[in-house]
Amino acid sequence: MHMLIKNAGIVTNGKLETTDIYIRDGKLERIGKNPEISLTTCNTIDAGGLIVLPGGVDPHVHLHLNTPAGYSADDFRTGSEAALRGGTTTIIDFVTPHKGQSLVDALDERIAEATGSIIDYSFHVSPVEWRTTTAKEIETCIERGFTSFKVYMAYQDSIGLKEDALFKVMQSVAKAGGIVTAHCEMGDAIDNLRNSYFREGKVSPLYHALSRPPETESNAVKKAIELAAKASCPLYIVHVSSAESLQHIRKAQLNNQKVFAETCPHYLVLNESEYQGAFDQTAAFVMSPPLRKKTDNEALWEAIHAKVVQTIGTDHCPFTLSQKSAGRNDFRKIPNGVPGIGHRLNLLYSKGICLRNDFDFDQLVNVFATNPAKIFGIYPQKGAIEVGSDADLVLYNIRIPEQDLPDTSSSQYDTDIYKTIKTKGIPEMVLFRGEVVVDKGIVIHQLKGRLLTRGLFDNKTGCH
Ligand code: URP
Ligand code: ZN
Repeated sequence: MHMLIKNAGIVTNGKLETTDIYIRDGKLERIGKNPEISLTTCNTIDAGGLIVLPGGVDPHVHLHLNTPAGYSADDFRTGSEAALRGGTTTIIDFVTPHKGQSLVDALDERIAEATGSIIDYSFHVSPVEWRTTTAKEIETCIERGFTSFKVYMAYQDSIGLKEDALFKVMQSVAKAGGIVTAHCEMGDAIDNLRNSYFREGKVSPLYHALSRPPETESNAVKKAIELAAKASCPLYIVHVSSAESLQHIRKAQLNNQKVFAETCPHYLVLNESEYQGAFDQTAAFVMSPPLRKKTDNEALWEAIHAKVVQTIGTDHCPFTLSQKSAGRNDFRKIPNGVPGIGHRLNLLYSKGICLRNDFDFDQLVNVFATNPAKIFGIYPQKGAIEVGSDADLVLYNIRIPEQDLPDTSSSQYDTDIYKTIKTKGIPEMVLFRGEVVVDKGIVIHQLKGRLLTRGLFDNKTGCH
């Protein structure tokens, strides 16, 4: 299977250049103007006027997540379709064992659940307790190519880890050559606040946000950074939402500690005003950490520019309003999570490139694809337009004027938090393994996603 993309606008060394890309057998084989290819033997796409980016790598999604309110409203089939329509061709989801279950058994179960994916996928593995066998299980996961481990400091009544267990996980992961990713929120402090608001009859979604103030995040960020330094473990902090957290992260990076940060589109473009109103309007915005102030939005954009934040993950975890209604009379029972898997590129282009002087295509490619691929051991197979990389490409049409955010979802959830947002441009065409799978925003061809095994953490992966 051959394909030639002519006149592709790609970002090279920080500059947009027009070139041709020749694809063979699912890989990028030649990049350069006028490659000597017989046009009669291959399909040609004229990408004149389109920006060609590497297929997105979303390092943080929760598809088919089991919760007390039922499964999250996208499974691997529907979620991967939304991702693809939005220009994302690789996702990293999570393995969350139940207590007493080995990480390796849970990994095998999770792999079986993901077979419906139409894009490539991998998993971070979550130790939810420390057992005598955990260190060995971590080693086995790493030997099998699952090299990142997610720990939760929140959710102490279920999957959260106490400090001693967290430290042991970090030591074991560091020894085996992996990286720890951390959900940084002080679980005990939050639980106290949640319970006292509830006792006072304060039960609406607003109190979800008020019971998770920024210091409960930044104190956890500080603690995780200290533990990771002591354990000599690379650390990746997921869904950073607040300016205070960024200060700790910046300080650690300046000390040359291997600390990476992710934020999510919702923390860049939405704010705490979404919690004012009735349950049906506000419950959709219940996620952890909660939305913050406009000053935090701005601090996060600045931190992307300063390369303090390296990636944008969506933390895609949608629930229907009917599922959110489990907490109609008790915000503590509202399932946490919001959609976003298909909107990342569109939002970054429209709210970043079109509106800000400090965010360009180079940064967009880095946070959308290259950096997550590097940090999680799949670069340059993914996240790159380089000879030998997988031919996963997005052709973004910047000529589409402002319109409602395109609906990428094939699921039935009625809680899209971005529905009032207007965006510019669309991911017009997506190639996956060298085949056109999305045309004019519609999936026209489906391939089977592959399970990606990943390399060890590369200590040369920089923060700056
Ligand atoms: O609110 C969130 N983030 N939901 C997904 C699960 C998690 O905490 O990451
Ligand atoms: Zn998450």
